[in-house]
Amino acid sequence: MKLQSQLSIAFTSLLLVIMAVVWYVIYSLILNLLIQDEQRQLEQTGELLVDILNEQYSSPQNIQQFYSVLQDQDLQLLLYDRNQDRVLFSSMSSRVVQGFNDNNDISNPSETIWDFGNEKYVTSRILFLPETSGLEMILLTPVDDLREVQQSFFFRLFLVFLIGLTAAALLAHYFTKRLVTPLSQLKRQLKKIEKRQFDDIKHIEATGEIKEVAESVYEMANELQRYMNSQQTFFQNASHELKTPLMTIQGYAEGIKDGIFDEKETERGLQVMVTEVNRLKGIINEMILLAKLDTELNIYEPTKIDGREIVEKIADRALPLVNEKGITLHHKVENNIQIFADEEKLLRALLNVVFNGIRHANTQVAIYVSNKNGITTITIEDDGAGISEELAPNVFHRFVKGKDGETGLGLSIARAIIEHSHGKIAVDKSELGGAKFIITLPEK
Ligand SMILES: Nc1ncnc2c1ncn2[C@@H]1O[C@H](COP(=O)(O)OP(=O)(O)OP(=O)(O)O)[C@@H](O)[C@H]1O
Ligand SMILES: [Mg+2]
Repeated sequence: MKLQSQLSIAFTSLLLVIMAVVWYVIYSLILNLLIQDEQRQLEQTGELLVDILNEQYSSPQNIQQFYSVLQDQDLQLLLYDRNQDRVLFSSMSSRVVQGFNDNNDISNPSETIWDFGNEKYVTSRILFLPETSGLEMILLTPVDDLREVQQSFFFRLFLVFLIGLTAAALLAHYFTKRLVTPLSQLKRQLKKIEKRQFDDIKHIEATGEIKEVAESVYEMANELQRYMNSQQTFFQNASHELKTPLMTIQGYAEGIKDGIFDEKETERGLQVMVTEVNRLKGIINEMILLAKLDTELNIYEPTKIDGREIVEKIADRALPLVNEKGITLHHKVENNIQIFADEEKLLRALLNVVFNGIRHANTQVAIYVSNKNGITTITIEDDGAGISEELAPNVFHRFVKGKDGETGLGLSIARAIIEHSHGKIAVDKSELGGAKFIITLPEK
């Protein structure tokens, strides 16, 4: 069943239950309340009447006048003499009075509801003064009259409930629709993501948590699209990178097999083939390393590394290349710097950046290591030509390289390692004129 119908049914049922409970409570109370109210009214009317009668018709001579006044009142009443346990007068027929006498104990004032046949009567009794006269006026109202009031009250209550229920059902429908519509729209957008129609994705109008979910979905879709694009570029670049040396090898191998090269050319061809095979091996090893860095989390064995020690190791390993290029490598490390990372991997990452620097520098490469608020910052900069603005945003992507680049994997490996060590790497322009790589790592 659709969510909107489920919610509407749930709301309406809840309202029905609440209304049924309210109805039951009112129903069970209303008759008692009506009876009490009727008794109060009878008492007031009776007291008024008794007062007038007491004043004006107190002498026995006026007794007939007294009765005729009572007869004129359009009330159902009895005059009861307690001392004689006798009904002296009644505005109702003697059959009815007899019925009351037979079914009830008229002398008992605590019997406030009297029976007569199938009918019940509400009674109220008022004493004439002086009390010793024992004269009581008993006023009666049939409970059926009250039931009529009760019925008409319920009819109105029913109407109010019906209107309330309809209004509530409409409101429930409106609000659930408002709630569910963005969800259905979001579902459609998710279907588009499933079908990879990223350009078709539209923003939906929503508020609150649904809006937050929608935002997360868009971010997820963007991330997925970026990931898929980068995967595609990765495969294109990788196949291109692998194809070039393979074609060179194939060319030479076929030439040698067909005997079209002389001895010198064959010798050179074999040399090129060995170099290209080694290059292929290098590329494949780097690709395997990248894949492992991405998937095998347990290849990282973080330990505490001393900042000064790791920079010295970098300088040692870079020395041959530095000498070959005839440049200088400066390094400065603040005291007591500790880094928490896998030492071999971090060394590899930093060497990739430093080797790039040495390769592109004119005269110098500088490494600085500092620490502020528990974050270690390593900057590696050179005075070479720097990284062009077009290349900079993608320089950490796989197989992305400049004109003078090699494989284009070094910086993506460096980034993977640094991110696994919970750090970040960014590129900027150096004041020395070349590129500046900034690596931040938490101390842990
Ligand atoms: N210090 C630098 N100065 C100028 N350009 C740089 C510098 N470092 C990197 N680059 C540019 O960024 C590109 C990508 O570098 P990356 O290290 O990823 O690949 P690579 O050096 O070409 O090959 P390898 O995979 O062998 O490292 C390089 O090809 C180069 O154009
Ligand atoms: Mg490199």
